[in-house]
Amino acid sequence: MLRPPLLSALVVICLGTGLVLAEAPNNAVGDTIAARRGLMNQLATLQTLVDARVSSGGYSPELYDLGQAAAASLDAFAVLLPPQSNLLGGAPAIEGVDTTAAAAIWDDLPAFRQLLRDTAAHARAASEAADLAGFQAEWDKVAQSCSSCHESYVVFDPFAAFN
Ligand code: HEC
Repeated sequence: MLRPPLLSALVVICLGTGLVLAEAPNNAVGDTIAARRGLMNQLATLQTLVDARVSSGGYSPELYDLGQAAAASLDAFAVLLPPQSNLLGGAPAIEGVDTTAAAAIWDDLPAFRQLLRDTAAHARAASEAADLAGFQAEWDKVAQSCSSCHESYVVFDPFAAFN
């Protein structure tokens, strides 16, 4: 037979699980936002690695892997945009979760996803180029897309550093 202290510990565990399940939808949205921000930070790291390889002057086979990884990150970002994650466009706030993804993304989600796919295609084309000049020509298009997409679809708070 279960002794009372053990029994009450089990009750607490069951109650705890119920609480976690009740919060699951919010946590899932928070995790989704964390995952997409993680992919973008990964893209920034890949960009730094590409720049280092390119400035070393010769074609390096690693450029293939870096280009493919960038393409995969951009494609994965496209599936991490549920409407509940549009926090700046009125979706319920989630404690401890921030995003700079602009509401405009959800005005025309297919168009936004297309931008991601186009950028991924340039990253793949760079990756599959035969030489450094070919790589650079395509990678320049990737870099331009980073900036132009951020201009239209990312909201940066210029006063964030002062808060
Ligand atoms: C088609 C649009 C698009 C493209 C292309 C794009 N980004 Fe982003 N990026 C975003 C969005 C949207 C966010 C905001 C994500 C969020 O807060 O949920 C973001 C956020 C970021 C962030 C901040 C991540 C954080 O911690 O919040 C970095 C860094 C970044 N992008 C780097 C890059 C780099 C480097 C490239 C190009 C290789 C790139 N992005 C291409 C849309 C794009």
